[in-house]
Formats: sequence, structure tokens, C-alpha cells
Amino acid sequence: MCGIVGYTGPKEAYPVIIKGLKRLEYRGYDSAGIALLDGSLKVYKKKGRVSDLEDEVVGKDLHGHTGIGHTRWATHGEPSDANAHPHRSSTGKLAMIHNGIIENYAQLKKDLINKGYQFKSDTDTEVLLNFIEEIKENNHCGLEEAVRVALKRVTGAYVILLIDAEEPDTIIAARKGSPLVIGIGKGEHFLGSDASPMLEYTKEVVYVNDYELAIVRPDELILKNLGNEKITPYVQKLDIELAAIEKSGYDHFMLKEIFEQPQTIFDCLRGRLDTLGGTITMSGIQQYADQIMKANRIVMIACGTSWHAGLVAEYIFEELCRINVEVEYASEFRYRNPVIQPGDVIIAISQSGETADTLVAIENAKAKGAIILGVVNVVGSSIARASHGGAYTHAGPEIGVASTKAFTAQLAVLTMIALKIAHDKGTIDQDRYMRLLAELAEVPSKVEKVLKTKDKIRDLAEKYKDARDFLYLGRGFNFPVALEGALKLKEISYIHAEGYPAAEMKHGPIALVDENLPVVVVATKDTYHHKVVSNIQEIKARKGKVIALITEGDTATAALCDDVIIVPEADEILAPMISVVPLQLLAYYTGVAKGYDVDKPRNLAKSVTVE
Ligand code: G6P
Repeated sequence: MCGIVGYTGPKEAYPVIIKGLKRLEYRGYDSAGIALLDGSLKVYKKKGRVSDLEDEVVGKDLHGHTGIGHTRWATHGEPSDANAHPHRSSTGKLAMIHNGIIENYAQLKKDLINKGYQFKSDTDTEVLLNFIEEIKENNHCGLEEAVRVALKRVTGAYVILLIDAEEPDTIIAARKGSPLVIGIGKGEHFLGSDASPMLEYTKEVVYVNDYELAIVRPDELILKNLGNEKITPYVQKLDIELAAIEKSGYDHFMLKEIFEQPQTIFDCLRGRLDTLGGTITMSGIQQYADQIMKANRIVMIACGTSWHAGLVAEYIFEELCRINVEVEYASEFRYRNPVIQPGDVIIAISQSGETADTLVAIENAKAKGAIILGVVNVVGSSIARASHGGAYTHAGPEIGVASTKAFTAQLAVLTMIALKIAHDKGTIDQDRYMRLLAELAEVPSKVEKVLKTKDKIRDLAEKYKDARDFLYLGRGFNFPVALEGALKLKEISYIHAEGYPAAEMKHGPIALVDENLPVVVVATKDTYHHKVVSNIQEIKARKGKVIALITEGDTATAALCDDVIIVPEADEILAPMISVVPLQLLAYYTGVAKGYDVDKPRNLAKSVTVE
């Protein structure tokens, strides 16, 4: 949460930073601000979007070749101009932006107030900044030294960027628990929460690690640990193209990302799935295949949509591999004292690879001896690096706050892992294995077919957009799809929606059913189909409105429902990758019909780097 950008070099910093902030707005959009060094230090900030900041600075002096910028997701202090970053220190000489939470800020603030400091905001950031300044003044040291001393006394998570009116052309950056990428240009450096602000300028980046501090000047990047020892920066090549982070003619990133799914699923399978040879090649999994096969249990750890992917994987792994699977919310798992036994394998699932709870959960499990495999989208992210092995989902940058293409890519990867293990372990017969491999390769074209029903889904969104609540039902492999459909609707349209296992409806939610309640039922042809049809009848008997996802040709079920969305036939193991797509579209079109900004839903952020 919160996006940070920095630039130092020969260009004017303002346009580089503003463009970068727009690309990082998915990380938070409560306020935005910028600080520029041009002999003196100038700070401009505004509640609202980056575009509000642009309006605010019209006619102002925006010169400066070194600067830092921030787009905020509020933690300490409401969204306001005063709480917007950058913050200025008491003397006015330092400016700082921060992504994260300083947990011991209250004590630090008390101490500073006792020493006469006054605060202009409610943020933990301003506290840390003044703490740094106090050290700098008392120790008569430079900014770098002051930051290092301060960070040793700080608990919490942070990425901070600081500039000092007395140190031209210099940005001091440090990280613990939140992401920081430094782009290396010719005589210039770029800093960002991810690589998107620097894509058109450089493909060479350094991912800064926890407890590292960077001194960044146009011609110089010095990386140190908090013990003041130099570290050689590990320069990596980016393989993201600019087009991947642009809307390319779509109204919203979310729509673009939904429509990219035939390609992203294909990209995820490419080079891994060999349907003729009957093999699945995943190098990051291969070396742990033996441990997975022998695992007593697999624990899937994730948050949000990624947690739903874990739930689908639970059904798939148990069915195909006959291994006990548990699916855990990372935020719960990290604070329990979970029993980790020898032979446990943890699979961490994360689009961003930066979700704080997931990261800490796997670090705890790792410390207890578990093998950690990451199923992660963002290459080089913290979770990817903290894992022993794993597989990238190769879905490309996901910018829409509501996750779509990352989910289907996660399912594709998890299905491939399960098929590989089942095959190696001998828990799947060869015929079924070969058939599933062939069908997996067909998923992209089946998703393509579903996308062709978009106009029908847009009409349904229009028809039901004024409902106060929605219920989503599914069974078996499609139960997590019902959860995911409900989550998407909540996130994007702000309509209350609940996902439930279809049979469980009788234990509570059925009390909600009346003629005003739309019930979305995933009723595709699978093992549970006839039971789900009974559930549809129970809803109809109580006058509920049923919108069912049905398999092509299932006229009998269609006749029972108010509205249907038709999806191609698929093996039930692969069905979630297909059946989730119309539910993504339903949420998208409902949000649009209600006039909401679906790429930036209120209160949410794409990457939750705070607890
Ligand atoms: C946030 C996002 C969700 C995402 C979840 C987990 O809540 O808005 O879309 O599913 O975080 O994020 P991760 O990056 O770990 O998959």
C-alpha cells in the first residue's frame, strides 16, 4: 500500500515522478504529493488522486532534478492535505515519503514532544522523519548516518525515501518489509515501489532487500546494510514491456486484464505443459517434487483472491495427489502458533509477492523447518525471494485493484503442480492424466468463448445492479468460485454479496431469499450438478431470482432459472478457471453500471503491505 517514486538525474524530476505516481496509484489513492530539490526544497501535496495534485501545482515552481513522490493509502491519520506525504521535518530541511507502518511511533512521538517538537500531521511518518532529524542535529552527522541510527530503533515495516536541502542530488532510501526497486539509467537513477515508473527509461533494476539502505545520486548507487557495510547491488534485467502497463484501448485495466486471460493462461502453460509427451516441466518445483510427494500435508497460505485460488487447489490436490491440504489466511496463520511438522510443505500464493501477512507467515513457517514454495506473479518480489522454490504465474502486471488474471494464472500453475505430483506419485491413472493435460491446453480457448458472452453479462449487470444483496452458490471445485464471484462484486460495485457452498445455504442464507435477492449459482455439469439443481429449486420455491452458470446444452437447468450464462463443458478440475470469468465480468459491468471507478475501488489497495 502506498506508492513511492524517486528520481535523480539530468531530467526535470516532476514529469517523471507524476507519471510514475499515476502508474502506482493502484497502491493507494487517498492523497498524493511531491518534493523537489532545486537549491531549495519544495513540497506540494493534496488530498485525493494524483490528478488533484496536478491541479494543485498549476503555476507553481516545479523545477528540480531530484525529487520524491507518494500516493497514499491511509493508515495513521485520515486522508487529508496535512497527512499527505511528503512530510517536512521541523527545520524544513528534510522531506520524506514512507510506505508501511512504524509500530513504535507513539513512544517516539511522546519523546519528541517532550523535547519540544511539534507535529503538523497525525502520521507515523512525520514522527520518524523528526526522529531522524533530531539524530542528525544532535550527532552533527549526514542524513545517511542519521537514517541508519534511527532505523535501528524503529519497529514496523517501511520503505522510506528522503531528500535533504543540504545534500543536493541525493536520495537516501531504506526498506524493511515493503518493496523498493531502483532503476539504473545513464547518469540517472529511478526509485519505485515497483518497476512501472521506470519502464521507458531503463530495463536494469536492483531489488533492494530488507535492512538495506541506498544512497542514490545521478552517477552513483551505493547499497549498504544497517551495519554500514557496502553490498554489491545485484542488477537484474526487466522483461516487462510498457504496453503491459497501459490500458491499450480498454476502458479500464480490469476489463483489459479480464480479456487478457486466454493469453495469460496460455503464457503460464507455455514451455511447461507438453500434451504430446505427457510431461509438465516446472524447474522451481522439480527439485522439491520428492518432498511434495512425501508431504504429510500441504498448507496453502494466502490472502484475498489468492486465498480463493488456494481453496480450489485444496480440492485439486486432494483429488489428484491424495495429500492432505489445509488452506490458511496468512493473517491468522502468522499469529497462531501453528504446528509445523517435518515433511510439511507450504505453498504461498500471491499476485504481488508483497502481501505483508503472507510474507511474515512464510518466514515463520520457514523458521520452523517447512519447505516454502511460492506461486507468485511479480518476478523478484519479496515472497518469491523468501521461498525455497516455486513457480511464477507469468500473468504480466495486474493493475486493476480487483484481481482477475492473476487468479486464473494461479489456478493454472497450481493445477500443473498437482498433475505433476499426482503423475510422479502414481495417484492418477495415465488415461486421465493425458486427458487432463490435453484439456488444460484447451482452457485458453474456452475462456475466449466465455468472453464472447460479454454483452449478455452486461445486460444482466444492468438488470440486477440495484439489488441490495447478492448470494453466490457453488459446490465442490466451484465453491471457491462462488466466494470469488461474491468478493469481486463487493469490491467493485459495493453491493453486499456472500459466497456459500450451495448445500450450506439451508443453514442460514436461505432466510434471506425472497423476490429481491439475486442468487448466482455455479451450476455447471460436474459430480454435484444434480444436487446444485435441487438447490436452485429450493431458491425458486422461495421466489429468489436465479442467475445460473450452466454448461452448453443444459436446457433442463436453463428452464428452471431466471437468467443463464452459458460456459463450455470442462472437466470439473479445470472448470474454475473458466467459470470464474463470467463472474468477473458480472462484477465489472455492475460496477460500471453504478458509475464507480472500478480500477480504484474505495478503501482498497492492490498490494497490502501493512498488517
Ligand atoms: C488485496 C488485493 C486483492 C488480493 C489480495 C492478496 O486485497 O486487493 O486483489 O487478492 O490483496 O494479494 P496478493 O498480492 O498477495 O495476491
